[in-house]
Amino acid sequence: MLVSYRRVDELAVISINNPPVNALSHGVRKGVLEAITTAQTDDSKAIVILCEGRTFIAGADISEFGKPIEEPSLPQVNAAIEDSAKPVIAAIHGTALGGGFELALSCHYRCALDSAAVGLPEVNLGLLPGAGGTQRVPRLIGVKAALDMITSGQKISAQKALEQGLIDRVFDGQVEESALAYARELITAGAGPRRISEIAIPQESFDSEAFDAYRNLLRKRKRGQEAPQRIVDCIEAAMEKSFDEGLVYERSRFVECCQSEQSAALRHIFFAERQAPKVPGLDKAVAPRAIDRVAIIGAGTMGGGIAMSFANAGIPVTLLELNQKALDAGQALIARNYATTVSKGKLSQEQAVARQGLISGTTDYEDLADVDLVIEAVFESMDVKRQVFGRLDQVCKEGAILASNTSYLDVNEIAAATSRPQDVVGLHFFSPANVMRLLEVVRADKTAEDVIATAMALGKRIGKVPVLAGVCYGFIGNRMLRQYAREAQLCMIEGAEPGQIDGVLTRFGMAMGPLAVGDLAGLDIGYKARQALTDEQKGDPRSYCIADALVEMGRLGQKTGAGYYRYDPDTRARSADPEVLAVIEEQAKLQGVERRVLSDEEILDRHLMALINEGFRILEEGIAQRPGDIDVVYVHGYGFPSYRGGPMFYASQRGLSAVYERIESLHKSTGEAHWAPAPLLTELVRNNQTLGDWMAKKN
Ligand code: 3HC
Ligand code: NAI
Repeated sequence: MLVSYRRVDELAVISINNPPVNALSHGVRKGVLEAITTAQTDDSKAIVILCEGRTFIAGADISEFGKPIEEPSLPQVNAAIEDSAKPVIAAIHGTALGGGFELALSCHYRCALDSAAVGLPEVNLGLLPGAGGTQRVPRLIGVKAALDMITSGQKISAQKALEQGLIDRVFDGQVEESALAYARELITAGAGPRRISEIAIPQESFDSEAFDAYRNLLRKRKRGQEAPQRIVDCIEAAMEKSFDEGLVYERSRFVECCQSEQSAALRHIFFAERQAPKVPGLDKAVAPRAIDRVAIIGAGTMGGGIAMSFANAGIPVTLLELNQKALDAGQALIARNYATTVSKGKLSQEQAVARQGLISGTTDYEDLADVDLVIEAVFESMDVKRQVFGRLDQVCKEGAILASNTSYLDVNEIAAATSRPQDVVGLHFFSPANVMRLLEVVRADKTAEDVIATAMALGKRIGKVPVLAGVCYGFIGNRMLRQYAREAQLCMIEGAEPGQIDGVLTRFGMAMGPLAVGDLAGLDIGYKARQALTDEQKGDPRSYCIADALVEMGRLGQKTGAGYYRYDPDTRARSADPEVLAVIEEQAKLQGVERRVLSDEEILDRHLMALINEGFRILEEGIAQRPGDIDVVYVHGYGFPSYRGGPMFYASQRGLSAVYERIESLHKSTGEAHWAPAPLLTELVRNNQTLGDWMAKKN
């Protein structure tokens, strides 16, 4: 039964049981409304609402969005709760989120376990709280705190919620027992219903100018997103309108957001993230291996960040370097990173010390004899990697997982350097590895099932979003990135300046434009990689000649104060540089390219279509398990705007036939083989099918 009603002496207890997270599906809403109605008719003196299982209500049932709302709606349920003639007490454990917290706010009293958290994360789904949250929260904690809480979507600990006045009582121990004791205490004290709707919003100087200033702040902080702006509208309405009018206003804005493309995209990403770690076909009986100690080979940019990811999750790490000097440098960088986090107030000094204490260093492979997992993050060279894996094969215990963080190299070839290819896997982190949430788990031909299961579970344990990839040059993300980066180069030589290209893509919502990213990473990285290739392997010179020329001038990007842009030595502010334009024009002349004006639309389409076409190839080849996985890769690893749902979702929204036509027209106008529409895209369009149809057929 989703909702049950029982009496415990003078108390009515409404219990919700809708695993896994007690989402407010139609059955739950109906059950709660019936129970509240029943409680009005018997001789109970107070009503307690609590949840079974791991958490209080985690919100509306997201899978019901986009479908017609079946009554009772949540606002109807909440109104019945607030109208109750008997006091209603919400008993919170786990998390009370979104509609779940709004339901709690409709109760007259709120108590919680000290381990609990509350929040209104709707903004992360392109929504706003649609069941009274924007009207009740400012009445409890004031306008500014309400704006901060609801537009950030962040969870608040029970203790902090108590201090702010969002909840009334915090206890440790057992939720039901403590909540019933609290309810009895309220009855004894003669406490009656206490309705937030009847509270006046605390007077403070938040006038229309202050609201506009807040909207401007959000335009920067939540660039391109509609829901944060609508939240401000609703909170402003809470100040100007009566409670009931405010609720009507909020609901109409909520319905608008629900129907928006941005919310559809964010909901897609929510489910895709949770789908990604699942590997169909993996034997469910396979148990993951225990991972208690980890070693990282190489304490450079990636090794240090990866070590921090494990230490942050409480897992001890041994860092191995070539020599003491390199080890000291790596550890000093880690110390600096932790110090910065402390100075930003995101971590206490004690926490930083404890985490750093979990990272030890060595230069001796024998110290790795006991570790359960080794992640290699040495130079991107097959020879060096094979040497390292050969050595690991000699020293590591049986069953240890041997992983490579390679960006492009063939994991099968790396595995072949060991006598245990079944234990070898790619674990591809993204820079900065302690921050970026994506983890590509690369399955090689012989990787054992339990190694994949372990990698997926471990990824989640360290707070990453693991995505399975097959072996190919660049796996999912970097393979697509090559096509995207090539378009940036071609657009530049054909007529666009770096500022136009980056401007188009950041206005689309990318965290950074492709050329600014190049300057940040260092143009020498690609240059060095190209030096190792033959002319044939390097491909079309128009796709790298500008980058090469800049490097040869000593313009390596931000680190030398100049790359595609010039950087202010003090502020690092970037500006366009006429010298770069001269280089572009010269290279165009050398390559026989006549420069022309490129429209913003052309630039955007070429970059997006390059990603999408390669995405279809990756799907067809089985390199990615599903379209949503590619979207997760781009959102969490490459700064693709989450509110556009990732490249494959974007393609579906735009319509596969429109995408096909655009790619085909680029193919015809350029004559370039890489613009040939991917066979899978062609097939789907020909059969008038969607990616969803294709997935359904595949499974
Ligand atoms: N609706 C439907 N399904 C949900 C859900 C929801 N609100 N929240 C979680 N789920 C599902 C997940 O998809 C997952 O399904 P799966 O097992 O089939 O993959 C399962 O529940 C478990 O979820 P997690 O893997 O995320 O479990 P965690 O323990 O890691 O996290 C959580 C639990 C913190 C509750 C997290 O799931 C979460 O943040 N959920 C979303 C909360 C949210 O955004 N609520 C607001 C909804 S919008 C709303 O309420 C509108 C209202 O204002 C009217
Ligand atoms: P880096 O040059 O910053 O660090 C490499 C480190 O490995 C150096 O400190 C070096 O001393 C050490 N090293 C080299 N050979 C070694 C050996 N035999 N034994 C022990 N230590 C050794 O390189 P970075 O950027 O950290 O890259 C490492 C790997 O991660 C590469 O395979 C790269 O392709 C991959 N990668 C890099 C990303 C990035 O953005 N930098 C992103 C994702 C993956």
